[in-house]
Amino acid sequence: LAETTQTQIWINARIATMDPTRAAPYGEFANHCLVVNGDVIDRIVPMAELESEGVAGIVHDVGGRWVTPGLIDCHTHLVFAGNRVAEWEQRLSGVSYAEIARLGGGIMNTVRATRSASEDELVASAKPRAQALIEEGVTCLEIKSGYGLTTADELKMLRAVRRLGQELPVEISSTLLAAHAVPPEFTGGADAYVDLILNEIIPKVAEQQLAEAVDVFCESIAFNVDQCDRVWPAAKRHGLAVKGHVEQLSNQHGAVRLAAHRAWSADHLEYLDDAGVSALAASGTTAVLLPGAYYFLRQAKKPPIEKLRAAGVPMAVATDYNPGTSPFASIRLAMNLACVLFGLTPEESLAGATRHAATALGRADRLGTLAAGKQADFLIWDVDHPAEIVCSLGVNRLVSRVFRGKTDDVAA
Ligand code: NIG
Ligand code: FE
Repeated sequence: LAETTQTQIWINARIATMDPTRAAPYGEFANHCLVVNGDVIDRIVPMAELESEGVAGIVHDVGGRWVTPGLIDCHTHLVFAGNRVAEWEQRLSGVSYAEIARLGGGIMNTVRATRSASEDELVASAKPRAQALIEEGVTCLEIKSGYGLTTADELKMLRAVRRLGQELPVEISSTLLAAHAVPPEFTGGADAYVDLILNEIIPKVAEQQLAEAVDVFCESIAFNVDQCDRVWPAAKRHGLAVKGHVEQLSNQHGAVRLAAHRAWSADHLEYLDDAGVSALAASGTTAVLLPGAYYFLRQAKKPPIEKLRAAGVPMAVATDYNPGTSPFASIRLAMNLACVLFGLTPEESLAGATRHAATALGRADRLGTLAAGKQADFLIWDVDHPAEIVCSLGVNRLVSRVFRGKTDDVAA
């Protein structure tokens, strides 16, 4: 499109850059303009400077509204088949998530449905979920496999993920999560399934370039820390980044072992202990907070937010969108819950779904803040203050969404 190769200038903007090198809250630039060349931000300059220089390019008047970076959802499982509503009803009457999993429901319930679905069916059912996030302002989205648990079915899920990135205006980060649950074919033989992950699934995924990272579920109902610590080095040998679902339902000391591999992120963290906090801080691993799952599972123990903050661990916020523990296609709901349930400030929450989420996906050089040289992914909001984006839900305040320099108008 012509638009994406030309210079475009968004004028009269209040820009929440989320750039930590700027002292102002939200990294604000008041009354500035954003100059974009093609799909890259060329510069951010005061309006007065632009007026004296003169304007050469397509001009968009933001009208004094707020501009933020595109939102990044750095942890989802949004490719799946079936639903788990009946299990939700069971849980409401007192049966625990872990108990349902032990009885062959939970993740395995979704695995059965996903194995029976075709790649086309997975793409078709995932599209409206991704679209809902896009309409909220998401410009980069992570999606995991993990409901196939055979070589063929994990590859099928990851091909569906790749197609979503080709067919929708969103950047997708694809993650292999073969170590999500021990499949029935391997019951009691988790180590043998880990062998399959190491010897077959990771090599094929790497060879076909179907994922950029490898995740695990380190938990008593899934894989122990030694099993996870076989998967992480294998991923790295194949040039893939590593991350993990750690300390979600109990403390397995997964975060410490994961941090030793310079992981992109450690996710959930409700049961994280002091050693885990220190390990994440020392390794520069991002903590990904998933308050949707905490809320939907009615968990009692919160991640140690104050300790993470004091240790300087970057905290990202994501939806964890999945049919079992967080059936919510709303990054703004996740940001809101992170404030209300976990005690983040609205600014921390917005940073969690922009700058820190970009770091959690290995994209800090290109995404997550608004600055010269960054990809032109940004949002124009009809709000008086950026905290309103996090505070209030239900009414769409997003006026314009710009992805790689191209505007799609999402407002009605
Ligand atoms: O992030 N913790 C493990 N995995 C998902 C749940 C997946 C499922 O229940 O389907 C999570 O909560
Ligand atoms: Fe998850």
